[in-house]
Amino acid sequence: MATLLENINGRAATVLRELTDVAVHDIYDPLGARLYDAVALQDGHELREMIAIARRTTGPILELACGAGRFTLPLLALGREVTAVDLSPSMLAILSERLDAGYAHLRNKLTLVEGDICNFDPGLKFSTVIFGCVTVSLLDFGARSRLFRNMASVLAPEGRFFLSTTVPEGDASLAAPGTPVENVQLVKDSAGMPYRLHEYIVPDRSIREITLIPEDTDTSSPVNVFTTAVRVLPPHQLATELQANNLAVLATHSVKTPGSAHQIVILEVGHRV
Ligand SMILES: C[S@@+](CC[C@H](N)C(=O)[O-])C[C@H]1O[C@@H](n2cnc3c(N)ncnc32)[C@H](O)[C@@H]1O
Repeated sequence: MATLLENINGRAATVLRELTDVAVHDIYDPLGARLYDAVALQDGHELREMIAIARRTTGPILELACGAGRFTLPLLALGREVTAVDLSPSMLAILSERLDAGYAHLRNKLTLVEGDICNFDPGLKFSTVIFGCVTVSLLDFGARSRLFRNMASVLAPEGRFFLSTTVPEGDASLAAPGTPVENVQLVKDSAGMPYRLHEYIVPDRSIREITLIPEDTDTSSPVNVFTTAVRVLPPHQLATELQANNLAVLATHSVKTPGSAHQIVILEVGHRV
């Protein structure tokens, strides 16, 4: 099996080759979770749209891959009961800390579950299921099939499953195969430490490799680097996969994203009739 380092290409790989002592982490591991959370909190575009959508629904909410609670806390703040599931104990630990630090009054409305969303059985049906932050892109075809089959049984008869994905159409860097595309942007962790976020889009445009490298590589040994690989899953592909599992896309909601970012949509999914 390829190591995390072997999965890093392009300029990020060049930078890493210059360093003598590097530790490559998954972005959701105990060290990466805090950096991921700090960077994710700097982007509220999809969050705003998802919360606006959730406001139009009623009843308890199932949130898939809740991470450190970027969506969970605003959902709880709407006064809703939330069951939130995530695989990463590190991400769930940040969510718990955050609740204790300022939102303890919301804890009685929250059921936190450490588990795999593809196999998770909540034991009851939900009218609203939220799956944000393009997290579907972390799942391979088999995992997506298991998840969608699971959602077909978890979703109440008139229920809605909201999931976000990127839209390659109209995006010069994602639409057509070609040479690799690379983007670099400066981000900061919660202490203000700068990192370069490298995005490397593979020639067939199926994967975006994301790698975060600290700007200052002299202060720690090893230099801790964080990475993840995100699939590009166009809405029409997800629609076909959902159909195969007796679900259907009923509406598509655009997310207003800043100029340079990839376009995101939220698919509103219900039972196929
Ligand atoms: C992109 S983050 C999104 C977190 C959060 N929703 C947010 O918006 O910040 C992806 C999350 O998915 C979780 N995850 C990935 N695969 C999973 C799986 N099969 N089951 C449960 N959680 C999973 C990771 O642990 C991580 O917290």
